[in-house]
Amino acid sequence: MDTKIYDVAGVGIGPFNLGLACLCHPIKDLSTIFIDAKKEFSWHEGMLIPGSTLQVTWLADLVTLVDPSSKFSYLNYLREKNRILQFGIYEPASLTRTEFNRYCKWACSKLSNLYFGTEAISMTYDSNKKVFTIRCSVNGGKEVLIRAKKIVVGVGTKPYLPQWADVLKSNKVIHSSNYLAASDPIEKANDIMIVGSGQSAGEIFNHLLDRPSHPSLSWVTRNRQLFAMEAAKMNYEFTSPDFIDYFFRLPDDTKEGLLRKQKYLYKGISQDLLNSIYDKLYEGRQEGVNFPVQIMTNTNVVGVRQSKGQLEVELLHRQTGRTNKQTTNTLILCTGYHYNIPEIVKGLGKLIKYNKEGKLAANRNYSIDLDNRVFVQNAELHTHGFNAPDLGLGPYRNAVIINSILGYDYYPTDTGTTFQRFS
Ligand SMILES: Cc1cc2nc3c(=O)[nH]c(=O)nc-3n(C[C@H](O)[C@H](O)[C@H](O)COP(=O)(O)OP(=O)(O)OC[C@H]3O[C@@H](n4cnc5c(N)ncnc54)[C@H](O)[C@@H]3O)c2cc1C
Ligand SMILES: NC(=O)c1ccc[n+]([C@@H]2O[C@H](COP(=O)([O-])OP(=O)(O)OC[C@H]3O[C@@H](n4cnc5c(N)ncnc54)[C@H](OP(=O)(O)O)[C@@H]3O)[C@@H](O)[C@H]2O)c1
Repeated sequence: MDTKIYDVAGVGIGPFNLGLACLCHPIKDLSTIFIDAKKEFSWHEGMLIPGSTLQVTWLADLVTLVDPSSKFSYLNYLREKNRILQFGIYEPASLTRTEFNRYCKWACSKLSNLYFGTEAISMTYDSNKKVFTIRCSVNGGKEVLIRAKKIVVGVGTKPYLPQWADVLKSNKVIHSSNYLAASDPIEKANDIMIVGSGQSAGEIFNHLLDRPSHPSLSWVTRNRQLFAMEAAKMNYEFTSPDFIDYFFRLPDDTKEGLLRKQKYLYKGISQDLLNSIYDKLYEGRQEGVNFPVQIMTNTNVVGVRQSKGQLEVELLHRQTGRTNKQTTNTLILCTGYHYNIPEIVKGLGKLIKYNKEGKLAANRNYSIDLDNRVFVQNAELHTHGFNAPDLGLGPYRNAVIINSILGYDYYPTDTGTTFQRFS
């Protein structure tokens, strides 16, 4: 056992805890360690579709929006790679996702306190010594114990499968998070059905349209239309600490209703992608290519069964009530991601605060206990609002967490940055 007691242990090294590691790096009197179950850093590797871009400005890197002078900034990465002048000419609105992944790997390579291949299995708390012990499995074998005074849990969300898919256990049913890993069976399929109408569905449909063999493509969504994400500058003001302050103070049932209404501030498909899909279909027709596609809105999948090596999908039109059965080779479920409270948090029992629905009752500073010892990243959609998964606000949340851990304001946390008043 490592006898050292760290000030902070981060569990999970996605972009949020990686950003935390970068922002903690210059704080000399704070000892930190970060672990991740994966063998190396990789950001949603199953969805690194060539050409797909981030949905935030390139300025929203791991650190810049809190500390532009940080050596972990994207601009410093460009400087080191000798690409900064070219970038000034290239000047994209957003980075490609593969480039963001490369940049994060570069940031990892600069830090000596990140341990990959290390999965947190359980966690206990010694209330006398005020120390947490995390039991970890290294590369699925050897056990190690890590001890720390504060914990930041950044384990991300998990792919969500509707119940009818979960029971199916078929290699013909693929979640979007596994899209590139499943490229072999997808390549072979000549008839594919995509379910869902978020950005993942749009990107996969668009990618499959480019396949020279033109598989037959059905795209099914229960939504009444393919919604474009709302991307006006005034709407981006909701992605701000000011809005988080406002949302946090609302009663729980008001929060729930507002979250539903704000869905298209963070879900839906980017307008550029929707337009490009339309143009591709139109240009295909112009060139005499008859894409075998059907796009079905207002349509729910109510059941799927395996039949003669195919999948038989039962569809229900939500307005007319009509049902229809369709067969397909492969179903790609772009049904999103859910947050599951991790076992290491559940194991802490009464130390952790829950609301009456059993969800984590995160405090404004992202801690989930009474004593500000356990913090979460991207687990507070229901308490802090739709900004929880937003990469642009990652540095802000990390600044709040670091300031809370230190007990003084090391980093600035912007307020008063919106022209709109929310309350
Ligand atoms: C395909 C996709 C694209 C997205 N693009 C954008 C975008 O452009 N802009 C935007 O604002 N948001 C985007 N998001 C939303 C969000 O910002 C990302 O999901 C982001 O990766 C969340 O970061 P995270 O650190 O919370 O979690 P993750 O990136 O999911 O990382 C969590 C890490 O925790 C590790 N882990 C889990 N359990 C354990 C354990 N027990 N022990 C050790 N390690 C563990 C995992 O291995 C993983 O590496 C996107 C989401 C998806 C799915
Ligand atoms: N380029 C990028 O930056 C990029 C790429 C991919 C994803 N992302 C981000 O990552 C997050 C996740 O995106 P996502 O597209 O994977 O998921 P998502 O935005 O949550 O969309 C999930 C879709 O699946 C549907 N759905 C959920 N459960 C269903 C069920 N049981 N039956 C039928 N349909 C169901 C949803 O319908 P309802 O709307 O009715 O719930 C929705 O259309 C989003 O914030 C997105 O912006 C970003």
